[in-house]
Amino acid sequence: MLVEKNVPLQAFNTFHIVAKAHTLARIATEADVLALLEHPEWGVCPKLVLGGGSNIVLTGDVKPLVLKVEVMGRRLLHETAKAYVVEAGAGESWHDFVTWTLQQGYPGLENMALIPGTVGASPVQNVGAYGVELQDRFESLDAVDLQTGKVFTLNAAQCAFGYRDSIFKHGPGTGLTDADLAGHRALGLKDRALILRVRFSLPKPWKAVLGYADIEKKMAEHGCTQPSAQQIFDWVCEIRRAKLPDPQVIGNAGSFFKNPTVTAEQCADIIARDPKVVHYRLADGSVKLAAGWLIDSCGWRGKTVGQAGVYEKQALVLVNRGGATGGEVMTLAKAIQTSVYERFGIVLEPEPVVV
Ligand code: EPU
Repeated sequence: MLVEKNVPLQAFNTFHIVAKAHTLARIATEADVLALLEHPEWGVCPKLVLGGGSNIVLTGDVKPLVLKVEVMGRRLLHETAKAYVVEAGAGESWHDFVTWTLQQGYPGLENMALIPGTVGASPVQNVGAYGVELQDRFESLDAVDLQTGKVFTLNAAQCAFGYRDSIFKHGPGTGLTDADLAGHRALGLKDRALILRVRFSLPKPWKAVLGYADIEKKMAEHGCTQPSAQQIFDWVCEIRRAKLPDPQVIGNAGSFFKNPTVTAEQCADIIARDPKVVHYRLADGSVKLAAGWLIDSCGWRGKTVGQAGVYEKQALVLVNRGGATGGEVMTLAKAIQTSVYERFGIVLEPEPVVV
């Protein structure tokens, strides 16, 4: 295990914010974590688990010990009549893993192509795109309890997945909602677990997940009603490249806010004032609103605070125009929240973790 001091984190967060880790340990194996936990100083100090850094805003140098997860490897574990079960190390790049599954002939993750970040971060966020969420393909994961050093396995129910949410985003204790208590989220594994490996169940026979407006548009353009998994993968890459900034070129953390859910009455109220509001009715009668539209209609698209800006092609994405600080990103985010609240009475909830 490699432990380094004063490590620049700019290359380790997709916003490319300049900050340093006082101490950073690279974790390549389960044994590395266990050795670290036995260390008299590092074993007990506060820790921050860092995956691909694609869902984090750094507002200063990081004092907790940063655990940079670099557990690699990907393999087919077994194949049944119903599914391929594949496993990947938490440090693998998510997109490279998706690409590999398709090359191997295990389709099922294609709608989630090009999501930035690592395999280990994917269950934390319950990442999703174009009609498929991680929880739809999840089998189980192995993690280390950073307090006890025990390695444990969680299935999907135990991960308490929600929309861009899981047990890994909740601490134990106060502020729990009824939904948290009903699921396992009340157990709260925030800052407590380091995910080592994730297993996915890719159903057989494969069935395309269509129906999302952008995918339907591609089907119409290509006159294709039964696309292959590879075709969907290619289209998703094209759609994302056209609409979302490439973090290698322009620093960003994907969608900055979650799409809010409101009651049918609240939605009717907003429609009465803003008939064009983009909304989707959910099975339970509630309505999901497109946060990008709400922000856009408050006039934020293309605006900046310092070097932090609102992306021109997707108002839900905040970007680093070069040298932005985490403080500038958060000032911009707060200004957006205030104006959306003043106009629509809706509180936008940020997606990334603020450190
Ligand atoms: N819209 C606007 N103006 C904007 C942005 C969006 O009017 O500036 C409208 C669009 O026209 C569209 C609607 O809002 O009608 C929704 O936009 P889009 O299809 O781009 O999807 P989204 O709801 O903004 C979500 C996810 C993305 C995911 C896409 C595709 C969240 C918070 N975001 O975005 O996930 O890729 O759907 O499935 O749920 C991420 O989480 O980081 C992420 C990129």
